[in-house]
Amino acid sequence: MNSSKSIEPLFKPFKLGNLKLKNRTVMAPMTRCFSPNGIPRADVADYYRRRVENEVGLIITEGVLIEHPAAGAEHDVPHFYGEEALNEWARIVQEVHEAGGKIAPQIWHTGMARQKEKFPNSDANSIGPSGIDFNGEQVSEPLSGEEIHDLVKRYAQAAADAKKIGFDAVEIHGAHGYLIDQFFADSFNKRKDEYGGDLVQRTRFAVEIIKAVREAVGPDFPIIFRFSQWKLNDYNFKLAKNPEELKSFLTPLVEAGVDIFHASTRRFWEPEFEGSDLNLAGWAKKLTGKPAISVGSVGLNAQLTRDLQQTTKENNPTAYLDELMHKLDSGEFDLIAIGRALISDPDWVTKIREGKTKELSTFTKEDLKTLV
Ligand code: FNR
Repeated sequence: MNSSKSIEPLFKPFKLGNLKLKNRTVMAPMTRCFSPNGIPRADVADYYRRRVENEVGLIITEGVLIEHPAAGAEHDVPHFYGEEALNEWARIVQEVHEAGGKIAPQIWHTGMARQKEKFPNSDANSIGPSGIDFNGEQVSEPLSGEEIHDLVKRYAQAAADAKKIGFDAVEIHGAHGYLIDQFFADSFNKRKDEYGGDLVQRTRFAVEIIKAVREAVGPDFPIIFRFSQWKLNDYNFKLAKNPEELKSFLTPLVEAGVDIFHASTRRFWEPEFEGSDLNLAGWAKKLTGKPAISVGSVGLNAQLTRDLQQTTKENNPTAYLDELMHKLDSGEFDLIAIGRALISDPDWVTKIREGKTKELSTFTKEDLKTLV
């Protein structure tokens, strides 16, 4: 990537209602576990501000916990409730804005991905649609209707707080096998009531959350919804096996109020279904007419694996960039999220714009230990 024309698609501004981004780059949400007792401090602001100073258009924060005792599955993940944490988030937003960027929190509940005994509030039971854990065993009671309504309100409260303290949008984490996605997947959701059933019926929990969030933030505040086919415990899982199923899954989410879909894949260049080059984000956009964010190994040629062993020294940081520009230029999707490349190179976007591809670093597992 050294001719300025070839990178043009990445540097076109993007606008959706009041959300105006200077280019098409998004920082992917990445858990850091650097917020002691759930409170993000000045180092968290520095971490995001460095990326914005280096031209990232939109930051989607690491997953942040809604107010529920069993929301978190790791220590030192930031809270998105309580005066102290929210005041710190307000400061982070301010710093991002001062540096010329935009920011959305990713609101998160881990559901049955949490191993109760290991993590914060170990006396609280992990929760999920049917109480089924990642080993397929029923380890807690299915959520009651009342508990579900309460959770819906807590997501809405987090979104309302995001708007109140100045965030530019909110992302609902509906991907990767966490709570919302556990309702989508029939391996976790065996409910016989209105929250279970076929794929469309299993969207009901998400639909109620999106509607409640919409009511809490009003018509103009963008709601981004992240979804994936893959699950933490199964990279080959397919929620939707063909475009028709994908359409039936996404349509209720659109009707509930989603503005932008963030389709989480591990390699953005891979076609989602046979017979077309479109990736999952491309299909989401085509089927819903909504803007889409794509993601997956930008600036890497290795896949995301559980232990990240695949991202090794022979990794080529400029792999597939031409493909990315082509997909952006053709309008297959609108925005591209960048994860690990932005960990190893906080100035990844600047380096790409200036054609300094030789200076790009190689992401290694060691980068995850400091995450600065
Ligand atoms: C992630 N990812 C992730 N996804 C998400 O929706 N919420 C999260 O909190 C996290 N946390 C997280 C931590 C770390 C260390 C990594 C590497 C990844 C997934 C991430 O957003 C992204 O989809 C993948 O990393 C793929 O993008 P890259 O890294 O290939 O650009």
